[in-house]
Amino acid sequence: MTPRPTGPARLVVLVSGSGTNLQALLDACADPAYGAQVVAVGADRGGIEGLARAERLGIPTFVHRVRDFESRDAWDQALTGSVAAHEPDIVVSAGFMKLVGAGFLERFAGRMVNTHPALSPSFPGMHGPADALAYGVKVTGCTLFVVDDGVDTGPIVAQTVVPVEDDDTVEALHERIKVAERAMLVDSVGRMAREGFVVDGRRVRIG
Ligand code: GAR
Repeated sequence: MTPRPTGPARLVVLVSGSGTNLQALLDACADPAYGAQVVAVGADRGGIEGLARAERLGIPTFVHRVRDFESRDAWDQALTGSVAAHEPDIVVSAGFMKLVGAGFLERFAGRMVNTHPALSPSFPGMHGPADALAYGVKVTGCTLFVVDDGVDTGPIVAQTVVPVEDDDTVEALHERIKVAERAMLVDSVGRMAREGFVVDGRRVRIG
C-alpha cells in the first residue's frame, strides 16, 4: 500500500465484541496528523458495543451474520461487498471472531491486518490468553499481522511482549494484553497509513 496523495488512509474495521481496539483507533483518528480515518465498521453480529462505538460517531456500520446466509461463501461475498463499498486502503480485523474466505482474501490481499492476543506463532486461534496461561509461559503478548489463508499465520507487522503473573486469571491476563494491543495497533496502523507498507514474503516493511 502506498500512502494516499491527498487525505487520510481509509480504514474499514471489523469487530465482534466490545471494540476497545476499535475505540483506540477512533480516538487516534480524531487527530488529523494520525493520517487515517475509520470510514466504516462491520460486524458478524448485532447489538455489540463495537458497533455502538461507531454509531455514536455517525460512522456507517454493517452487519452480516453467517446464519442468515445459505452458505459460508455467500456470507463471505456479502462481507466482501460491504467492505469494498467503502473503498478501504486497509481493512483492520480488531477482535473479529470469524475467518474470512478466499474471495475476501483475494479482494483485500496484503491490505488486511488482524490483531491477535498472543505472540505468534504460539497460541493461534480463539483462546490465545487461556492457552498461554494453561501452557505456563512466563511472557506472552500480542501480534499484528497481515492476514493470509491460515489461522493467525500471516506475515508479522508488530509484536509486544506482556508478562504473565503467577496469580493471573485468563481475564486479568487478557486485559493486560489488550492494553499493549491497543497501543501496538494504533502505532502500527498509523505508520502504515502515513508511510505505506510492503509485504515481501514473510517480511512486512513499513515506509
Ligand atoms: C482482542 O484481544 C483481540 O486480539 C482478540 O479479541 C479481543 C477483542 O477485544 N481477538 C482474537 O482473539 C481473534 N483471534 P476488543 O473487542 O475489546 O477490541
